[in-house]
Amino acid sequence: MVGSLLLLAMGMLFGWIGALQYLVPGFLVKWLSFEKIRPLHVSSVVFWIILAAMGSVLIYVQEHTGRKLYSALLTRLQLSLFSLSIPAIFISYCMGIFGGREYWEFPPVLALPIIAGWILFLINFTRSFGTFKQQPVYIWMWLTGIIFFLFTFLESYLWVFPYFRNNIINDMTVQWKSYGSMVGAWNMLIYGSSIFLMQKISGHKNDSHSRMAFALYFTGLFNLMFNWGHHIYTLPTYHFIQYISYVVSMTELLILGRIIWQWKSSVSKAAIHFHHTAFRFLVAADIWIFLSLLLAVLMSVPAINVYTHGTHITVAHAMGTTIGINSFLLLAIAVDTLSNSCSKESINEKWITKGYWITNISLFIFWISLVIAGILKAKWQMSTEKIPFSTMMLQLRPFFIVFLFSGLTMIAGFFIILYPILKKQISCYLVYILGERNPAEEPIRGTISMD
Ligand code: HEM
Repeated sequence: MVGSLLLLAMGMLFGWIGALQYLVPGFLVKWLSFEKIRPLHVSSVVFWIILAAMGSVLIYVQEHTGRKLYSALLTRLQLSLFSLSIPAIFISYCMGIFGGREYWEFPPVLALPIIAGWILFLINFTRSFGTFKQQPVYIWMWLTGIIFFLFTFLESYLWVFPYFRNNIINDMTVQWKSYGSMVGAWNMLIYGSSIFLMQKISGHKNDSHSRMAFALYFTGLFNLMFNWGHHIYTLPTYHFIQYISYVVSMTELLILGRIIWQWKSSVSKAAIHFHHTAFRFLVAADIWIFLSLLLAVLMSVPAINVYTHGTHITVAHAMGTTIGINSFLLLAIAVDTLSNSCSKESINEKWITKGYWITNISLFIFWISLVIAGILKAKWQMSTEKIPFSTMMLQLRPFFIVFLFSGLTMIAGFFIILYPILKKQISCYLVYILGERNPAEEPIRGTISMD
């Protein structure tokens, strides 16, 4: 969890340099050109999400069973594999050694330790939770999330085989499909942990065994498997694939409808628990789920997708969901799991509250500026007049300036949140280093009792 928070901090700084390069194209071109900064940014934030999601599952499964993990050795091995491969990936980017595909631009050989680490995670998790009988929905979400992530990650490397690589349409279809499902897989891990956290806060165990919880789980699973079609609308592939995925995408409207339907009760729930720092992040994520789903459902309509594809609307969609939903949910989990650590010092909640508001307001402005820039780019893309690229980019400049400044205040907000959390953890490690306590003898976390 701590490593993932550091990756988040680093990733945002890379993102800011990238945003500056929108406005000053030659900035740092010799050392960190946009070709390097984009993968450095995207990989850091993707690894923030993946490591934090893994961390939350490994912590919460112990709270669920009341027992330690099956093997501490496997966890250490898993952490070592990630701790070696992630810096190696960053070094390869800085040296300009690529060889991979978009989002995983590093040389494919570096994917091997990640696959190995994920298999260890799967073994450790399945051995830790015990029987399949009468398990709550979050255990199923974690299990399917882990399996599907492994499957889709391997799928995203099928291009290394000439059979896939030699046909560009097949190659891109598999590639774009795998990314769509992979996000669904990590969402399963994060949503599962969020349900566990909500249960801890409310104290109601029954909710995660209810029919509604399982109905939503199956809708999510169905979408994870078949909802990637909007990624490939622009490819000349089989129409039936596009029709099926269009229909599946629209099932997300059910989830959207449910959010609106439950809005009143969520507001009253929020009023009861809003003083709880972790819960506040859950509320923010709820609002971002609503905004992101609105945009996603629109983008899944083929007639609109033709315009949005390849514009900043896609970037707004990617960042709105990974920041507004994934990052806020993971921060809620980080606040919960790390505030319950060995150190007696409590997290300074005033700081977190300030950071929370700064981040949310900035993110909204950041997101809107990208959407507007995207609309203007879409108009340019489809225009029959041959307006030069540079003229279009000049038109987008005011929105890039807003993007850059709201990005800066957003980073400040995130840092204000991260500072007290990390400070507390570091003081906790000092206790271990000084030998005052032994981490192996720590009790299982989880202070909130459930009915
Ligand atoms: C929690 C923090 C963040 C997350 C999770 C995140 C996530 C992402 C993702 C997933 C992409 C890929 C988008 C795509 O391929 O369409 C991206 C691209 C990008 N992000 Fe971020 N981001 C974060 C913060 C920031 C910040 C603070 C800035 C700076 C103001 C920033 C600037 C950029 C830029 C310039 C790109 C490249 C877009 C392009 O290719 O044109 N990001 N980010």
